[in-house]
Amino acid sequence: MDGNGRWAQSRAQPRTFGHSAAEAAVIDVIEAARSAGVGWLSLYAFSTENWGRPSTEVDFLMRLVRRVVRKHAFFLHARGIRCRFLGVSDPRIPAELAQDFADLMTLTGDNRGMTLTVAFDHGGRADIVAAARSLLRSGTPAEAVTEQTFADHLPYPDTPDVDLVIRTSGEQRISNFMLWQVAYAEWVFPPVLWPDFRASHFLECLHAYRLRDRRFGGVLPDEIGASRP
Ligand code: IPE
Ligand code: MG
Repeated sequence: MDGNGRWAQSRAQPRTFGHSAAEAAVIDVIEAARSAGVGWLSLYAFSTENWGRPSTEVDFLMRLVRRVVRKHAFFLHARGIRCRFLGVSDPRIPAELAQDFADLMTLTGDNRGMTLTVAFDHGGRADIVAAARSLLRSGTPAEAVTEQTFADHLPYPDTPDVDLVIRTSGEQRISNFMLWQVAYAEWVFPPVLWPDFRASHFLECLHAYRLRDRRFGGVLPDEIGASRP
């Protein structure tokens, strides 16, 4: 979810104004994904690198996320959405916010609709390091380590590989997002800034995804036929 700061600056407002405006986009996209039948939606809300922002901005984000989580908890629950938080390990996260995250996970834990993963204080590399540590602690012999056993030690190992990554604001970077899980993801980079992103933009991204040929390093059956002499 990128472009909040630029959205605000283009309106001669402080960056925090853009973060506040992001709430409407978040809710619209969650509802659009759920009604489109998306099973797993992950939102990258705060990265391990975002701690490097000015403390006023970081503090603002912590308060904003707390307000949004509390405000929409029952909307999410009523729609059968199961909520999870990926990351959330840094002691700088305010205790009240960590409690709100835990409460929302408990409230929605048995829901069987879409799984919404909010990546907060998330870093793909940090997850890989944590998985390596967990694997070593488990005493797994080196020869027994496969991609699958390694993936089993990542946080939320039931999360399927990412099919589509949408990065708004025209930036074309991964920025340490779910590095393991995006290995074969398709990518779209809509130019729209996140606070302006709505259901219609999300559906356009889904449409673009459906038009892609996903080969996973192989060839499609009709290509095999076409290349025969
Ligand atoms: C994304 O918008 C929100 C967070 C990373 C919390 P940015 O704050 O990165 O906005 P730009 O990239 O400066 O426009
Ligand atoms: Mg940005």
